Amino acid sequence: MSFNEKVVIITGAAGGIGKEAVKTFAADGAKITLVDLDQEELDRVATELDLKEDRYITVAADVSDEAQVENYVNETLDAFGTVDVFFNNAGIEGKVIPIPEYPSDLFSKVLDVNVKGVFYGMKYIMPIMKEHKGGSIINTASVAGLGGTAGVSAYIASKHAVLGLTKTAALEGAPDGIRVNAVCPSPVNNRMMRSLEAGFSPENAEAAQQNFAAAIPLGRYAENQEIVDLVYFLASEKASFITGGIYTIDGGMRAM
Ligand SMILES: NC(=O)c1ccc[n+]([C@@H]2O[C@H](COP(=O)([O-])OP(=O)(O)OC[C@H]3O[C@@H](n4cnc5c(N)ncnc54)[C@H](O)[C@@H]3O)[C@@H](O)[C@H]2O)c1
Repeated sequence: MSFNEKVVIITGAAGGIGKEAVKTFAADGAKITLVDLDQEELDRVATELDLKEDRYITVAADVSDEAQVENYVNETLDAFGTVDVFFNNAGIEGKVIPIPEYPSDLFSKVLDVNVKGVFYGMKYIMPIMKEHKGGSIINTASVAGLGGTAGVSAYIASKHAVLGLTKTAALEGAPDGIRVNAVCPSPVNNRMMRSLEAGFSPENAEAAQQNFAAAIPLGRYAENQEIVDLVYFLASEKASFITGGIYTIDGGMRAM
């Protein structure tokens, strides 16, 4: 598996899973476009990972804004000429609030980022992949796309929608050799879970963490790298017959 000279776009590149993905693909020689909200955060990631100057660009963009998505794709074409792999990963968790009290504007925001962001990315990248008859798209869904959890309606709804988009894109992309898959992690040991733990149990976030971990047969959260290992495989030629797949990576959680 080598991504030498391959062009990879990663959204949410300054976050837990995204940054780990940048590190992994960079180590394998890929040319990478790092996309996230804040330019300073992107610069910090590039410095921390010691990325080689001609092997990456950063584009600050809000993935819920169609023009900004079109722009990060165009910046990638200007810099590297094509797109081979798209890790469509940026997302937000919203808040832990029951449906009757859930603020409607926050509900819209979560759907805008998690659903429209994923849609816009594929809308602008699939035509490029079509031109060279191939490419791999990995959308980050969640186990929250496979069942409900009280209190996080917007997040749950958004991740179910990501799976629908993934299946549709896989069918549309297949005639042109474009593979589209989704990964569904259970809780991952990073910022997003710290936020959700505090949301579920403001008095005792650590207890929430223990409860979440206890619900996972392997007895712990995933690490960012474990999610990226699956993404890396799905992006690679080793996954050449895999499309439309929904990949749980959950320490056995969904086996129960
Ligand atoms: N952490 C978990 O437990 C977990 C579990 C399952 C799925 N996921 C999913 O994994 C993906 C990555 O999240 P993470 O775990 O690395 O959390 P994270 O919060 O560390 O990273 C998310 C990144 O997305 C960026 N982002 C948010 N809104 C954006 C926008 N509008 N435009 C551009 N970038 C934006 C954030 O700035 C952040 O860097 C998300 O889609 C998340 O829903 C996370």
